[in-house]
Amino acid sequence: MTAKPVNELSIYEARQRAEELRSLINYHNYRYYVLDSPEISDAEYDELMNELRAIEARFPELITPDSPTQRVGAAPVETFGVVEHRIPLLSLSNCFDDDDLRAWHRRIAERMGTEEFAITTEPKIDGLAVALVYEDGRFVQGATRGDGYRGENVTANLRTIKAIPLALQGKPPRRFEVRGEVYMTRSGFEALNNERAEQGLPLFANPRNAAAGSVRQLDPNVTAKRPLSIFIYQLGWVDDDSVAVPTSQYEILQWLKEFGFRVNPEARRHERLDEVRERIRWWGEQRERLDYDIDGVVLKVDDTTWWERLGAVGREPRWATAYKFPPQQRTTKLLDIRVNVGRTGALVPYAVLEPVVVGGARVSQATLHNEQDIRRKDIRIGDTVIVQRAGEVIPQVVAPVVSLRTGQERIFQMPDRCPACGTPVARDPEQVAVYCPNSRCPAQRIRLLEHFAGREMMDIDGLGERTAILLHESGLVEDVADLYKLTPEQLEKLPRMGKKSAQKLYDQIQGSKSRPLENVIFALGIRHVGLETARLLAEHVGSLEGLLRVTPGELQQIEGIGPVVAQSIADWVSRPENQRTIRELIAAGVNPTRAAPRAGGPLEGMTIVVTGRLASMSRSEAEERLRQAGAKVGSSVTRNTTLLVVGEDPGSKLQRAQELGVRTIDEETFLRLLREGPSALGGS
Ligand code: IVH
Repeated sequence: MTAKPVNELSIYEARQRAEELRSLINYHNYRYYVLDSPEISDAEYDELMNELRAIEARFPELITPDSPTQRVGAAPVETFGVVEHRIPLLSLSNCFDDDDLRAWHRRIAERMGTEEFAITTEPKIDGLAVALVYEDGRFVQGATRGDGYRGENVTANLRTIKAIPLALQGKPPRRFEVRGEVYMTRSGFEALNNERAEQGLPLFANPRNAAAGSVRQLDPNVTAKRPLSIFIYQLGWVDDDSVAVPTSQYEILQWLKEFGFRVNPEARRHERLDEVRERIRWWGEQRERLDYDIDGVVLKVDDTTWWERLGAVGREPRWATAYKFPPQQRTTKLLDIRVNVGRTGALVPYAVLEPVVVGGARVSQATLHNEQDIRRKDIRIGDTVIVQRAGEVIPQVVAPVVSLRTGQERIFQMPDRCPACGTPVARDPEQVAVYCPNSRCPAQRIRLLEHFAGREMMDIDGLGERTAILLHESGLVEDVADLYKLTPEQLEKLPRMGKKSAQKLYDQIQGSKSRPLENVIFALGIRHVGLETARLLAEHVGSLEGLLRVTPGELQQIEGIGPVVAQSIADWVSRPENQRTIRELIAAGVNPTRAAPRAGGPLEGMTIVVTGRLASMSRSEAEERLRQAGAKVGSSVTRNTTLLVVGEDPGSKLQRAQELGVRTIDEETFLRLLREGPSALGGS
């Protein structure tokens, strides 16, 4: 039906068009919020919504409670009503290691009389549990878990969450309840906190608190503005004898998906305990790449006909358990705030903490980024603070626990002299960074030396912080180029350095002369130049000599390098002491060159990205070979990527490629591609 202007519609036409619009909007809503795979642009979606709003404004009698325009609309309440849960929302027992897991499995196996039963695994989403009731395909009631028996009626708030369908698809049971976890994405949480910081509002400590706070808002208009989503993980109860409910947890999840519920796509059914272990390990790794927090993996006996027979111990069912990951947040006392001098001279405050175990490791120090961040979060010396650590990431102080203040806390002041050399500090134009302007500052020299030797830089094994300090303090290495003048005999004289380790370090230093240009440029420690920028720069200048000759005008022209970074590079190159370093590096034999993509090469026109570890060569070498064959090497997967080469332990690029439908190849095919050109890819 072509859309007639709203003011020309008869009520019959209006009713028909409104129904059509509602089902269109519900469908696109589902594509966007449930499947994460929209088919139309936001503008087109808005057009549909606006047309429906216009019809409903002209004919208010056509408004239905499940109309997509009616998600927000309820007035604020004084308190929430109480909802009695027909079947209580139980808790879960915990497993913390493999012994616990085996014990759980054995206990069930004994009761079931067999070791062979399927288990479904799902991520344990860190949010808040809710129970949703549907009647005749309409969302009629939503409640929090509360104490498991009685929760709060938060229907009006839950209606504002677009991943919760107001009207179901397919043939759902007449009356039933589903359960799930409302959560906030990490990115949504960051954005929300940034916005709150700007408005001077207190910050949320983590996405879970933010989600819980948002759902328990008395005004649904506030909830509507919060970036919330949901994963449905359980069927509560069903009032409908005419439907055949699956008797497998895994199939129930797929069944619920058909009605339009958002179910985690990574739920799996496993026949063997070993597969469960493997999946837990996978989730442990995946955990940091997700845009939502999980605190473990939930294991459920897949055959639901066993659930009642297995029963519960107290409020914990036997048929399920949570394999918990180490918590990534803990509270502890902030004993002091001290200041480090970084390799570019930036004064970086850090927290000295009463030691705690976070994310499986003992933490006694954490970063505080910069002075403004400390102000923004209102962190004071003596505060009880929330500390967060995730995997390899440096622990950070998230927020103070304001309610535990005693009045004895002190506000931190940035020093006005460099703690390492006493030079008065300078501030950058944006007043964010405070730095020591003395390029001879010993702290900067030592940090730069450490950085220079790093794995993605010159990759000099054995040159860590301790050795960097020794080399600097002994007067042997003032500048990074001095490294290449060292002899094994000199190294041997350093404290606690044996003959063998001196020779090893010497070999490592000499070996580093053949590092690719981009790594050498990254190693120089130019402010704002990370490996990505170093790569762009290397492609442009072609050699260290080229770097000496690069002009500010040229830098501005390099795609991917912005004005601030270009300025920083130009400043660095213009300084005589840096020019000397480069000349000395070249004289010492550090003179890598880098081939630009070869015009007319067999892979010309292709944009190829590499992820993960390759068995036959390093990532940089692989990229170099691709360039020599004429391919453009990308750093991230986009719609323009031709191929993704996938090695061991691939990162999020693989997922991105799958989402975008970018072709992936394994190492074997990659090697064939280098040898034979595009014919190695077959016909497609
Ligand atoms: S099943 C008896 N599945 O974990 C089964 N719970 O400690 C009860 N949760 O209150 C829950 N993700 O808030 C289940 N995939 C999942 C879950 C999950 C998160 C939460 C839920 C529950 C708590 C149990």
